[in-house]
Amino acid sequence: VVYQAAAGSDGIRLTMESALTARDRVGVQDFVLLENFTSEAAFIENLRKRFKENLIYTYIGSVLVSVNPYKELEIYSKQHMERYRGVSFYEVSPHLYAIADNSYRSLRMERKDQCILISGESGAGKTEATKKILQYYAVTCPASEQVETVKDRLLQSNPVLEAFGNAKTLRNDNSSRFGKYMDVQFDYKGAPVGGHILNYLLEKSRVVHQNHGERNFHIFYQLLEGAEDELLRRLGLEKNPQQYHYLVKGQCARVSSISDKNDWKIVRKALSVINFTDNEVEDLLSIVASVLHLGNVQFADDEQGNAQVTTENQIKYLARLLGVGGSLLREALTHKTIIAKGEELVSPLNLEQAAYARDALAKAVYGRTFSWLVNKINKSLAYKDAECPGRRSATVLGLLDIYGFEVFQHNSFEQFCINYCNEKLQQLFIELTLKSEQEEYESEGIAWEPVQYFNNKIICDLVEEKFKGIISILDEECLRPGDATDMTFLEKLEETVKNHPHFLTHKLADQKTRKSLDREQFRLLHYAGEVTYSVTGFLDKNNDLLFRNLKETMCNSENPIINHCFERSELTDKRRPETAATQFKNSLSKLMEILMSKEPSYIRCIKPNDAKQAARFDEVLIRHQVKYLGLMENLRVRRAGFAYRRKYEIFLQRYKSLCSETWPMWEGRQHDGVAVLVKHLGYKPEEYKMGRSVISFFPNLWLSHLGVCGNVLDYMKLKSFLQYDTFWFLLSSAITIQSWWRGTQGRRKAAKKKRAVETIRRFIKGFIYRNYPRCSENEYFLDYIRYSFLMNLKRNVPKNVLDKSWPTPPPSLCEVSQLLRQLCMQNMVWSYCKRISPEWKQQLDQKVVASEIFKDKKDNYPQSVPRLFINTRLGTEEINPKVLQILKNETIKYAVPVVKYDRKGYKPRARHLLLTQSTIFVVEEAKIKQRIDYANLTGISVSSLSDSVFVLHVRCEDNKQKGDVVLQSDHVIETLTKIAMSADKVNNVNISQGSIKFTIGQGKEGIIDFTSGSELLIAKAKNGHLAVVSVFSVRGCRAWEGK
Ligand SMILES: Nc1ncnc2c1ncn2[C@@H]1O[C@H](COP(=O)(O)OP(=O)(O)OP(=O)(O)O)[C@@H](O)[C@H]1O
Ligand SMILES: [Mg+2]
Repeated sequence: VVYQAAAGSDGIRLTMESALTARDRVGVQDFVLLENFTSEAAFIENLRKRFKENLIYTYIGSVLVSVNPYKELEIYSKQHMERYRGVSFYEVSPHLYAIADNSYRSLRMERKDQCILISGESGAGKTEATKKILQYYAVTCPASEQVETVKDRLLQSNPVLEAFGNAKTLRNDNSSRFGKYMDVQFDYKGAPVGGHILNYLLEKSRVVHQNHGERNFHIFYQLLEGAEDELLRRLGLEKNPQQYHYLVKGQCARVSSISDKNDWKIVRKALSVINFTDNEVEDLLSIVASVLHLGNVQFADDEQGNAQVTTENQIKYLARLLGVGGSLLREALTHKTIIAKGEELVSPLNLEQAAYARDALAKAVYGRTFSWLVNKINKSLAYKDAECPGRRSATVLGLLDIYGFEVFQHNSFEQFCINYCNEKLQQLFIELTLKSEQEEYESEGIAWEPVQYFNNKIICDLVEEKFKGIISILDEECLRPGDATDMTFLEKLEETVKNHPHFLTHKLADQKTRKSLDREQFRLLHYAGEVTYSVTGFLDKNNDLLFRNLKETMCNSENPIINHCFERSELTDKRRPETAATQFKNSLSKLMEILMSKEPSYIRCIKPNDAKQAARFDEVLIRHQVKYLGLMENLRVRRAGFAYRRKYEIFLQRYKSLCSETWPMWEGRQHDGVAVLVKHLGYKPEEYKMGRSVISFFPNLWLSHLGVCGNVLDYMKLKSFLQYDTFWFLLSSAITIQSWWRGTQGRRKAAKKKRAVETIRRFIKGFIYRNYPRCSENEYFLDYIRYSFLMNLKRNVPKNVLDKSWPTPPPSLCEVSQLLRQLCMQNMVWSYCKRISPEWKQQLDQKVVASEIFKDKKDNYPQSVPRLFINTRLGTEEINPKVLQILKNETIKYAVPVVKYDRKGYKPRARHLLLTQSTIFVVEEAKIKQRIDYANLTGISVSSLSDSVFVLHVRCEDNKQKGDVVLQSDHVIETLTKIAMSADKVNNVNISQGSIKFTIGQGKEGIIDFTSGSELLIAKAKNGHLAVVSVFSVRGCRAWEGK
């Protein structure tokens, strides 16, 4: 969508342009858009046009060119800051806030350390730019209470460092006389959480001497102007700077543009913000005052020409302020100690030497205190990662504000160092923009027309090369034995580098140039112009020596700061300290490493005039700076090159969210992923080039797409940035939730395992103690066993009375089990009984009686069990009506066909047997053959075998009775049960083995012999008995089983 809008319609362009006022669009905002981009005049004209409208910022691609307005502009308000916050580079007019914001966003998105390099000559506005960038971060970055403190300290470190390290020079009323590189550390939320400052070579010579029109460091004037009388009294100072030799050399103690009084208040407040205690402030100011007193120490020579201190008052103050013994100090200022052959020799100093020693002490005290101050500030800025000490969790944004290139009437060692430093920075700029960019095209295999530029490496080498460089030669002169002087150094230089195109001395110069050079001078052709240096003082300043006895006195100081600054180990250390120039060279080389490791952004500051005046555009001066800053070359490279280059990896990571194919992850080669992404965004092949590892976009084409102020890539960046942030937010939320949930799950699992282990342990212990009486070791086990028995029983309780299964109880539950079993049975029976019908009850009653009588006694009883007893075997229709007629008053309860055997011949006769309420009838057709009242029935006999013959015994006294009756019924069990029950003779059923006797009447007896055989037989035997052979009972059983 973004691309289409950008490439296809004017909509977005209009929106973007509408955000810019007409004034913003004076000239071009980016020199890349300059039609005549090779013309220096057009370049300067654009700068001029914009400067006139107070548009001090213009881009060359991503480099910001800034022209010092020398007046307060309304472009640094909070609203302005908000306007630049998170907004694309080209959407708003050029500003250093845009650079600051861009770096900050890169830092957050790519988590790569950034640095902003601010360069330009003295007075061009570097320090102001640095401060404004810091303010921008302080206002726009996320904050918390802790962060607020850090922000305050970061901001407040500036006035303190400026008071001690800046001074009025001819070039700048607030010129930085030290180099400063400040790291601001940001946490993962983007909040500034700490900082660190590296300081470079303070121009100490200013403490004791200032050129005409210049001042000492601000702090001296601020103290005298601003401090309360009481403090001044304690420090032994007077309000008037004219009283102090160290403040009058430049003859301009007061400057209209500076309010020392106000600045004092600011500094005083800042000191407390950055954690200075009152005592520390007092100690610090004592040192400042002591420097002033030192300056006023005077000497006179005695008869021997030895220096004597004439200003006792100063010694008194100094002794108090520095916390040293007065006489010791006096002695140290006028003597020097030499150690020769292990022996200490003390020799007096002459006037000149004493003054030198005094100044050296003042410089050393001030210089070291300045370093202490930086360390102290660093401590208060230190980022303490409470969560994870030791881990490098912060990303860093570095701000470099170093002294600018400067040329004075009289240039000394300090200017040499300062300009060398600027030379190095220019070298870095060349390396990172002009050189590396072009080399990258080459290595990526992208067709490219090289742009010529001036490489100042040659000058850097001239200064720093080993053995052949100026610093090496200077060191050599400083270290060599013999009478080395500044002049011998110059001669050495002439000898060694005489043919160098950027080096010139009086001797080496041609006739014409020679006039402009003194004999003790040498000239360097710097990238930024010619500077003529006077060698006077080079050796001394480079040696930076302080007499041993002065050092010793300071080591004994009771002022904690001085004591900290002068370490005892220095006195015993035999090694010669590194010279000032070498120290500086090494620290610069470290600085270059630091800067190279970060992603740089550039602000190139230009000074519009030498008079520090607003609205004055000195074209010559500006042209000169444009030239030496290499801005034209910079522009040519930008124009010829690609507007935007990114490594595939970074490009894909950053913009993958714009294409569904590459989001959230591209699995294939980075190159292919980028190709897919770019195609998806609708770029035409001529708009970009894909190198070996980098994609590059042509500026001309995308500029033509977007007119003057669009940059699709920045829109992409913005959109991607927003998605990226949301993505990270969601991702980190998801991770937090996941980790909590996993934690909970893990804890639950662990608790479960622990419980399981405990259970198993208790179980095993319980098993071991299972046979002991209940105790704590086995109670769980026993309970468990009981529980599981009962649960098992519950599941397997017998379902009917015939089911005899029952789980085996544990020993402790045997009794319970028994009771339960009974209960269960009772319950089943009870519920069975409840369900039973009256007919069935009757049936069962009869069956029970049958069982009582025959069970285990008669062989054919088992066959009868499953056969239901029938109410009657003969219906009324089967009984002769006459019989029915006779028995009309009696109900026939049971009728069954039977066979009657005659008492004598044992002939079988078919009869019906009828049972009524009180009588048994034996009936033949219509005739009642025999009537037996139940009362006369004395018993019933039957054999134990499986026959169906039985005898009804009848009382014989009754003559009407014919005797016992021998009968056979096919349903003998049923028939006999019915008879026994009806006649209430259940207990009178006699089951006999072998034979049954029965009465025939008139006292005669018959006998029935029962035997088993293979065939049923009922017949009269030869012995006159009735022989009943019943089928072997097994047959009966089998027959039963078969059913
Ligand atoms: N953006 C600005 N707005 C208003 N005034 C400015 C601006 N930048 C610089 N100045 C003015 O210019 C003066 C010099 O600027 P600054 O101290 O930043 O120079 P510098 O480049 O740090 O110089 P040096 O190398 O000497 O330290 C400031 O004191 C201020 O008066
Ligand atoms: Mg400065």
